Amino acid sequence: MATITKRLLLSDLVSTDNIDQVPSNYIRPITQRPNLQNVVHDSIPLINLDQLFGPNRAKIIEQIGLACREYGFFQVKNHSVPESTISNMMQIARDFFNLPEQERLKNYSDDPTKTTRLSTSFNIRTEKLIEAISESLGLDKDYISGQLGNHAQHMALNYYPPCPQPDLTYGLPGHTDLNLITILLQDEVPGLQVLRNGHWVAVDPVPNTFIINIGDQIQVMSNDKYKSVLHRAVVNCDKERISIPTFYCPSPDAIIRPAPELLTDDEPAVYKQFTYGEYYEKFWNRGLATESCLDMFMAT
Ligand code: OGA
Ligand code: NI
Repeated sequence: MATITKRLLLSDLVSTDNIDQVPSNYIRPITQRPNLQNVVHDSIPLINLDQLFGPNRAKIIEQIGLACREYGFFQVKNHSVPESTISNMMQIARDFFNLPEQERLKNYSDDPTKTTRLSTSFNIRTEKLIEAISESLGLDKDYISGQLGNHAQHMALNYYPPCPQPDLTYGLPGHTDLNLITILLQDEVPGLQVLRNGHWVAVDPVPNTFIINIGDQIQVMSNDKYKSVLHRAVVNCDKERISIPTFYCPSPDAIIRPAPELLTDDEPAVYKQFTYGEYYEKFWNRGLATESCLDMFMAT
């Protein structure tokens, strides 16, 4: 007797049944569709970290500060992660998504507090970047990491299957990242878009670079000097896409508040003080609300 397995993962639906339509539960209402004709092809700053520890440090810190204020996003090259490590990571992700469905489902969970770990030799020396961002705000280089308790890195593997009707749905709808900063490795297939001056900007992949974006917690600590910017991932008809974000997170009991050094009479605290744990819970409990969770933590 044939066994009928329920296909839980969209990727299998696409690859095995060769569907020519998006499943109806993935179709977005007309007003929420990606509107792909209106996307601008521009770029985000590309910063060369080669001399971060050399005589050009001040200049690089200045570029990082400018990128954080103006874009909330930048790319880095010469980040000291070897090309071979990057291609190994991508291969591990690809191999995982090629596993039979039953194997992958062993790792399936929709519980955001659960930590499923996939271990690799990946180490981008995030602390050094965190330090550079802290310094670019005019704070001591250890200020941000000193506020965070035992912070953690969470890595995700995103798999976006080819989609027969990419204008009806998303890989990931518009969102901000709730953590401190995110470091994203993407393969050679475009898909990431960043909101800038009211327009969606497509960030085309540059080989061997990482994309870094400011999350909600840095926006709070910087008292709105740096922005946690809306971004989304769109899909396309032809190619699957893999991206690997690493989310750099404070510990749940870390107290998050605007850095006192950045406050003046003219620029009082925009946010009240909270713990990262409180924020995390609010973020996941607000459903798919599109407005930023930050609004719930404004100082009155
Ligand atoms: C994310 C994210 C973008 C991408 O996982 O938070 O924004 O291109 N990913 O996969
Ligand atoms: Ni994101």
